[in-house]
Amino acid sequence: MKNLAVLTSGGDAPGMNAAIRAVVRTGQARGLQTWGVYEGYSGLIEGNFKRLGPRDVGSIIQRGGTVLGSARCPQFHTEEGVELAIRRLHGAGIEGLVVIGGNGSQTGAHALHKMGFPVVGVASTIDNDLYGSDVTLGVDTALNVALNAIDNLKVTASSHRRALLVEVMGRKCGYLALMAGIAGGAEAIVLPEIDVVPEQLAERIQDVYQRGKPHAIVVVAEGANYNAEGLCQYFREHELLRGYEFRSTVLGYVQRGAPPTCADRLLGTRLGSEAAEQIIAGNQGVLVGIITGQVTTTPLEEVVVGKKPLDPWFLKAADMLAR
Ligand code: F6P
Repeated sequence: MKNLAVLTSGGDAPGMNAAIRAVVRTGQARGLQTWGVYEGYSGLIEGNFKRLGPRDVGSIIQRGGTVLGSARCPQFHTEEGVELAIRRLHGAGIEGLVVIGGNGSQTGAHALHKMGFPVVGVASTIDNDLYGSDVTLGVDTALNVALNAIDNLKVTASSHRRALLVEVMGRKCGYLALMAGIAGGAEAIVLPEIDVVPEQLAERIQDVYQRGKPHAIVVVAEGANYNAEGLCQYFREHELLRGYEFRSTVLGYVQRGAPPTCADRLLGTRLGSEAAEQIIAGNQGVLVGIITGQVTTTPLEEVVVGKKPLDPWFLKAADMLAR
């Protein structure tokens, strides 16, 4: 292999730049020409490629987002889209591709692999819902952002004796909510994995005050059967929590845009470098991730169908510790 490219796709995640830098510098150290694909799979289809040398990826390790840009690309879900992308890659002489992204992105990588193009994935999404890695790129930063917010919200909640419902991202996975809720000392956590009954949640919040707490923090996953504002609305319409003040706060994209923590810089560096080594060594069609502390590769065909359940210990602990 002489030419290796890297792209970022799907929702950006803090640490993607560290991974891009590691792919480029590892590729260069192994004597390859390295390329960046801009705007994810859209850029792949359009042939939006640029040569990247070691200096082009200088001073990006500390930056959030992705210097390559990212996109969600419906055209890439078609066979014609994938074929066109492969023609573009061949046209530029590129013989291998590292795809940094989450579920949708690795499904795209799998499509390229099935059509015979050498590809390796890097596990990256703040949702931590990707099979093949215990922890994905961006999770640590997103959790720390959520925790800062929760810590601040708890202060103002206490001053006003309010209940605050804090919504975190995560799509249909409750990992961010569960971990931020436990680490933030939340009084209740609402997850997509377990349907919430608003009446029971309201009782629980009342109970919190009756036990002498000056606040109630409820961390709500955006993909739960009720989101934070949905719960507030339900409480109002059904006159639940009468006599108590409650508000919702949606953290949204602030969780994604922060500068990467040390853990995410190191994870991006490790996974990006290993992805380049794997593809050079001819181990393609795999996702590079971390399992029980070790860098591992998992075949993409397993990644695209695999499910990663929440840790049962944390699920049990969440209930017990919120007393
Ligand atoms: O997958 C990462 C994520 O931030 C999810 O938590 C969220 O639901 C989604 O992306 C938002 O997607 P978009 O950037 O397309 O609005």
